Amino acid sequence: MNKLGLFVVYLISIGRLAFGASFTVDAGHPSGKVSPRLYGLMTEEINHSYDGGLYAELIRNRVFLDDANTPAHWSVIKDDASDATIALDPANPCNDKLTTSLRLKIDKATRDHPAGVANSGYWGIPVKPNTRYRTTLLARSGAGFSGPLTVSIVAEDAKTVYASGKISGLGEKWNRFQVTLKTDRVVPTAKARFQITFEQPGTVWLGLVSLFPPTWNDRPNGLRKDLMQMLVDLKPKFLRFPGGNYLEGDTIETRFEWKKTIGPIEERHGHPCPWGYRSSDGLGLLEFLEWCEDMKAEPVLAVYAGYSLRGIHVNPGPELEPYLKEALEEIEYVIGDTRTTWGARRAKDGHPKPFNLTYVEIGNEDWFDKSGSYDARFAQFHDAIKAPYPHLKTISTIANDQPEKMRVHSRKPDMIDEHYYRSTDEFLHMSPDYARKYDRSGPEIFVGEWAAHEDAKIKPWDAAARQQPPTPSMKAALGDAAFMAAMERNSDLILMQCYAPLLVNVNPGGRQWRPDLIGYDALSSFGSPSYYAFQVFSRNLGDEILAMQSVETTIQGAATRDSKTGEIFIKLVNPQDKPESLQLELKGIASLASKATAITLTAALGEINSIVHPHNVIPTTTTLEHVQPVFSYTLPPHSIVVLKLKSRS
Ligand code: AHR
Repeated sequence: MNKLGLFVVYLISIGRLAFGASFTVDAGHPSGKVSPRLYGLMTEEINHSYDGGLYAELIRNRVFLDDANTPAHWSVIKDDASDATIALDPANPCNDKLTTSLRLKIDKATRDHPAGVANSGYWGIPVKPNTRYRTTLLARSGAGFSGPLTVSIVAEDAKTVYASGKISGLGEKWNRFQVTLKTDRVVPTAKARFQITFEQPGTVWLGLVSLFPPTWNDRPNGLRKDLMQMLVDLKPKFLRFPGGNYLEGDTIETRFEWKKTIGPIEERHGHPCPWGYRSSDGLGLLEFLEWCEDMKAEPVLAVYAGYSLRGIHVNPGPELEPYLKEALEEIEYVIGDTRTTWGARRAKDGHPKPFNLTYVEIGNEDWFDKSGSYDARFAQFHDAIKAPYPHLKTISTIANDQPEKMRVHSRKPDMIDEHYYRSTDEFLHMSPDYARKYDRSGPEIFVGEWAAHEDAKIKPWDAAARQQPPTPSMKAALGDAAFMAAMERNSDLILMQCYAPLLVNVNPGGRQWRPDLIGYDALSSFGSPSYYAFQVFSRNLGDEILAMQSVETTIQGAATRDSKTGEIFIKLVNPQDKPESLQLELKGIASLASKATAITLTAALGEINSIVHPHNVIPTTTTLEHVQPVFSYTLPPHSIVVLKLKSRS
């Protein structure tokens, strides 16, 4: 070593002594490949994620099946000079899939005193300026009445009409009617309802009433734009669906029965979801797949595998055969070409091109099946799927830390799904060593559900949880970030991970679980601090893992590099309530561009975002000057930082 070299070594060691806390990144020898699918999303119908959430339909109980006894969410409109009644009419359904209709009988109505029926939507109808809303009715009328009907979006107090249109030509046969309603320069509000009114007496039966605002990519049965933008901004590589518990159902009959979720919306009967309300099935199998397509993400398809939440299991063997068939047909619907039965059906439904599929998850959280039947059920599904589709990989839902006798032994699953709902403190404690215990030769690991909770004692579904904000605070985000860093460090083995739950309608009665990544009401949405932690991690990811070593610090982190651009991403998490000065050393690198970028998310532990304050905690970007392979950096208290460094050859 020449004199200059010795001098540099001297400076480095002086720096070490001065700083104490240090991180060394080995940029000379990547220790593994980052999984190209690492960051993804998990979704199910919970917290009104779809109905009253991502699925853009605005009419609640559009086919009148939410309650068997009354037209829930529908009310009569009349005044002292008009009269009307509404009732469910199971004797007059519009087709054989829907088992009832709504009979609307107008006994007295005039132009000045109209009567009719109103729908309150999912906690209001969102009214936005200069916006087109597509109304669809399936209707028939009694003899001698052909309309017109007025359909409109009006203020809750009925004083302001935001948009309206007419429907005429009704007859005694069921027919489909469409009209577009357009708002002008209105002040956005959700204090509005949708109504159908008459100006003369008559009787009408309604089979379906639907109202769609503009959707993402203009899909007719599509998704809400603001929420899709937030999801796309996370750059997810996959979407795990349809659950979660929503896949399993409370009972076998209420499982996610995919065939009932395809086809025209007026043929979707819907079904009770395990989270205490009825799903319209408007967001069905094809919509899940198109949602993936719109995010440029791959589906991770979970198939019902014979276990439902009330502890009911289907015996492996012949009894399980119908469910195997159902799953194989589902896979054919996803990837079969148009010469196959279900590929042809997909084409008929509007999507001839098969979707990409690599992973099929067999059930969900089957460690709850205390009968011990999962090993045999898994084997049956695994063999049946691998025979026609050897390229598909199967995921077992029983994690390595479950008792031996519960786990899958008779086959080697390609992947294992692990779920971690832990407190921030637990994540901070477990993350430094996470995945060290695993056999690097497989199976691959999927962390298919995880989230840091501020307080482990409060269960996500408890009454006490309902007293807390629906989305996590900065404290939870710190636990999330530490765990994400751990998964990145191990992403040669942890091939996929997704936070859960993803979505929550923040209205009273809208949620069943906390915390959730993204919150919304009818009109607007916001990301939690955890959303932004996930976003800055997912969007700044290389394809090579760089080993990191820390000395004398509680800071946790991960480092990756983009092998094409040479850009290095260092993620650091400071859970302490004081700043931490670190010496960062990049070994094996000749020099760095002197300017670098720091993205920082920092706030007091209790800080949250909300509908009213959506940007209270968001990342800020700054430029760092004079960056060298050894440099000092001070992390603010309670902070999550991504440093982006450019190597210079
Ligand atoms: O994410 C909420 C629930 O937690 C999921 O439905 C289930 O898989 C898990 O127990």
